[in-house]
Parts: sequence; structure tokens; C-alpha cells
Amino acid sequence: MTKLADSYHRPINYLRISVTDRCNLRCIYCMPSEGISLMSHGDILRYEEIDLVAKAAAELGIAKLRLTGGEPLVRAGLTDLVAMLAKIKGIDDISMTTNGVLLDRYAVALKNAGLHRVNISLDSLRPERFHKITRIGKLDDVLNGIEAAKEAGLNPVKINMVVIRGTNDDEIHHLALLTLSDVWHVRFIEFMPFMEKGKKNRFLVPVSEIMERIEALGKLEPSLPNGVGPARYYRFPGAKGTIGFISPVTECFCQACNRLRLTADGKLRPCLFSDDEIDLRGPLRQGAAVEDIKHLIRQAVVSKPEKHKLIAGVTCERFMSQIGG
Ligand code: 5AD
Ligand code: SF4
Repeated sequence: MTKLADSYHRPINYLRISVTDRCNLRCIYCMPSEGISLMSHGDILRYEEIDLVAKAAAELGIAKLRLTGGEPLVRAGLTDLVAMLAKIKGIDDISMTTNGVLLDRYAVALKNAGLHRVNISLDSLRPERFHKITRIGKLDDVLNGIEAAKEAGLNPVKINMVVIRGTNDDEIHHLALLTLSDVWHVRFIEFMPFMEKGKKNRFLVPVSEIMERIEALGKLEPSLPNGVGPARYYRFPGAKGTIGFISPVTECFCQACNRLRLTADGKLRPCLFSDDEIDLRGPLRQGAAVEDIKHLIRQAVVSKPEKHKLIAGVTCERFMSQIGG
């Protein structure tokens, strides 16, 4: 198999698949309070269509898939999709980004279907604050989901915390310290200004500052896995879990970008922050075969920009829940 690489010689081996733009939460940094105008069912790729795209991608050298949303678990029959994807030759890692609310119900079935691991969003450990950030959510549902995922063997369970200045940044210590005694892999993510386009990002806490605050508790040492993906990992000496940092805003990690994104309505996005998209749904519904889709995927790979323009304050037209993070 020829390896897939873009115009800047970056190997592309990772496809993120958004299966729905719907969500059972309304996180303040992701969706406007009134919600978004949702795609209709007919607009969303069917599982057979997603399967065909994944097969084409695997034939080109994609080895890792991640299911995202909105919230992937609100889509009916998601375990069936996981089972279909798990059968594809060449795919050796299937993961999911979820808010965890429904994991208690689905973790075992997902594991049995072939899901390897999950990333769970958790921005506060205080019930009222969690409710405020998600506008709907119950903290206990997510905590139960985290336990269920661990028990089901969806390993490793990573916890994503978007740090929002003045809202939850006083909990950085709490989450960091949890990694000492528990196998918690906590990743701190810089706030991306999707809701207030063009304005100063007043909610941003730069990773440099987050790290400083954590290192005030104790020295961090580098930890594995480093070098793959955008996160940099550390741990407190002797800790059971790890601490990761993701800095989409202050430190461009574009040179390590290894991914493509497929939106729920069947558009391939070469870059999270660029609105250049290649439509796959049209061709799929006109009977495109694996070879035709491979051609379009190659086109998307070639059109990957060198870097995004987030630092310059440019964001994109879609909301995060419409792209899938
Ligand atoms: N800034 C940073 N991360 C975000 N996510 C969604 N919106 C934003 C944003 N504005 C990430 C969160 C969440 C995942 C689904 O997407 O990490 O866990
Ligand atoms: Fe839903 Fe995730 Fe967006 Fe929150 S961040 S509204 S859980 S898609």
C-alpha cells in the first residue's frame, strides 16, 4: 500500500468521522444557546456510505478512525457502525470522542463491536458548574459513563477539559491531582473562539499558563505517548495517570497534522479551520465506487493547507458541533 502524504510531506493516516451534528448537551463553547439549525436525516451519510468512505480511506493508508459528533451516541445504532468499521482491513484503531452521558448504557456493546478507546469531555467536577457549562448536563451521568468505559476495557479513557478563563480554570489543580492516585489521563485544551468570531479570545488560558499552574503543585516529567497527534503528555513522578496539553491557539501544531475530517453531511474537510470542503455525498448518491472516492480523498489530502489561521483570529463558518472537533 502506498502511504498517503500531503503537499507538505505530512503522512495522513487518521480520519475523523462526524456521525451527527446533534447533541444532548449545549456546551457554551460549542453551540449557541438556541441550538443550531440541524441537518435533516436525508442530509446525513448513511452507515453504508460512511463504511464505503472508510474502506476507500483504508485502501489509501488511513489506519486510525475516530467517531465524533455532535454527540456520536445520540445517533441510533452506532454500535452497528462500529462493527462495520472494525471489519475493514487496515484499520487498527477505532476511537470515539463523546460527552459520556450515554456511555453507561453503551460502553460494553461498543467494546464488543470493536471500539478500542474513548475521549470523554469533562469541563468541571462541580455539579452546578458542569450544568452551567453544558446548559443541560448532569455531572453524575458523565462520571458513571467514565466508570463504565473503564470497566468495559475501552482503554485508555482520556478526559478532555476545555479551560475557560473565569469559568473553570480554578479546577485545573483538581483535575491534575486526580492523575496521582487514579488512572486518569487528563488533557487540558485551549479555548477556541468559535462563538465570538473576530473578537479577542478573552476566555483563553494559554497552555504555558496552565502548565505553570500545575507545575506549582509539583514538577512534571515527559510521558508517553509523545510525538503522535497534537497533545504533549507529562506526568507527576510516580503518578498513575498522565496530563496532556493541547494548544490549538497559542502553538500551531499544524506541522504534525495527520488527519482528515468527514462531516456528518458527507463533506471532507482537509483542515478544521478552513471552509474548503470536498463533497462526497453527491458522488456517493450518484453511485460512486471505492475507486472514485479514493480519487476525491486524494484530492482533499493534496489540498490540505500548510497551517490554519487561528492565531491570526480567523475561524470558520461551521460551529464545532457541525465539524466534530
Ligand atoms: N474550544 C476548544 N475545544 C473545543 N471542543 C469543542 N469546542 C471547543 C472549543 N471552542 C472540543 C472539546 C470537546 C470536543 C468535543 O471538542 O474538547 O471535548
Ligand atoms: Fe455536545 Fe460536545 Fe458540543 Fe458539548 S462540546 S455541545 S457535548 S458536541
